[in-house]
Amino acid sequence: VSRLATLLHEYLDGTDMTTSTAGTDTQVVVRVNLDSRSYGIWIGSDWLQGFGRIIRGVDSKSPNAMVFTSPRIGALHYERFERSLSNAGFTKIAKYEIPDGEEHKTTGEWTKGSTAIADNFPDTDIKPVVFNLGGGIVGDVGGFVAGTFWRNGLRYVQVPTTLLACVDCSVGGKVGVNLGNVKNQLGLFYQPHLVLVDVAFLDTLEDAEMRSGAAEVVKYGVACAEDVFDLLESHAEELLHRDRSVLQQLVKRCCEIKADIVRRDERDLTGERMLLNFGHTIGHAIETASNFAFRHGEAVAIGMLGATRMAVELGRCDQTLYDRLLTMVQRLGLQTTASNLDVEHVLTAMARDKKFVDGTNCFVLPTRLGLAKLEHNVPTGVVRRIVESCLS
Ligand SMILES: NC(=O)c1ccc[n+]([C@@H]2O[C@H](COP(=O)([O-])OP(=O)(O)OC[C@H]3O[C@@H](n4cnc5c(N)ncnc54)[C@H](O)[C@@H]3O)[C@@H](O)[C@H]2O)c1
Ligand SMILES: [Zn+2]
Repeated sequence: VSRLATLLHEYLDGTDMTTSTAGTDTQVVVRVNLDSRSYGIWIGSDWLQGFGRIIRGVDSKSPNAMVFTSPRIGALHYERFERSLSNAGFTKIAKYEIPDGEEHKTTGEWTKGSTAIADNFPDTDIKPVVFNLGGGIVGDVGGFVAGTFWRNGLRYVQVPTTLLACVDCSVGGKVGVNLGNVKNQLGLFYQPHLVLVDVAFLDTLEDAEMRSGAAEVVKYGVACAEDVFDLLESHAEELLHRDRSVLQQLVKRCCEIKADIVRRDERDLTGERMLLNFGHTIGHAIETASNFAFRHGEAVAIGMLGATRMAVELGRCDQTLYDRLLTMVQRLGLQTTASNLDVEHVLTAMARDKKFVDGTNCFVLPTRLGLAKLEHNVPTGVVRRIVESCLS
């Protein structure tokens, strides 16, 4: 049955979604349709032992696997992951651990990761498949290594282990590293060849990381799809408690939404992909100004509240949307303000953001639940007042 399901999946390559079975469980497959760069996002629970069969659909013969992970994730999950790769027929498996922390998302780690591939797999005829077992940092750095290696890049598989990476980072092919303290300044669009989500990895994730990832789910709910917000309103606590079924449903919906946006605006050119930056203009600035003391999602939550207050002030949406968002952020245990930051630092960080084109500004503002629009040239007085309110 499982073999037939795979064949069916391969046959249905162009469809958006299908389901299949591997191991003992059922997985949902969300397709990212990008012509020759299309790939599947397989979402399931407790199915790591079933990864091999799916991976072999991407590369049927390479015996070489290069795994990027981090010391913390590696200690928890590498052994089982390696076993799963061995079972899939990989005979030479090398590992490089990118140290934990945003401060290691650097060109230095890109060099070390690339060197690990060159050292372990000197035979250029047998290219390794790259696996990024980790959160957004491992995925971004490992994906950048894969994308830049041997000019044409190596095939790579995202195996997200944080909620943020499951719902966002692993999909869409934005990979790169920071330069100085400018986030993601070096990078490229290089789509993965496969994304394998096992929500069971999240069992070992710190609660604070779950909350941070949940903020990104809120983002999809407010800016893109009302049903995601409704799901959250009925299941926020189950999500934080890692209820498998709630996790799978939400991850699937977020991946569907992102897949659809990426299909229409793969390279951030039409403005559509920019909608996923709801809460990120102020959020990124808070991350930077706090020297990354705030996790990505923690800062984005405060940024989403700021952007929604801005939308209310400019008459783009009504107060009830703000109230629902505020209640949700509080239910998820996320901070609603960043009280110890300096307003000038945050404004300076914001002005450097790539979304501030030619000195003008651009915010993603919700117009109603599940819908957002880009707003250009918001008066600087309004921007300052909103940022101040995010910090008080
Ligand atoms: N490429 C994209 O499209 C995209 C989108 C959003 C964010 N990002 C990037 O993602 C990064 C943040 O990613 P993140 O939030 O996943 O953080 P992260 O990768 O730093 O992981 C957070 C922490 O959790 C630990 N961890 C990960 N999985 C674990 C597990 N299963 N059990 C226990 N501990 C675990 C890690 O070791 C780390 O300490 C940022 O650099 C951000 O810029 C990229
Ligand atoms: Zn984000």
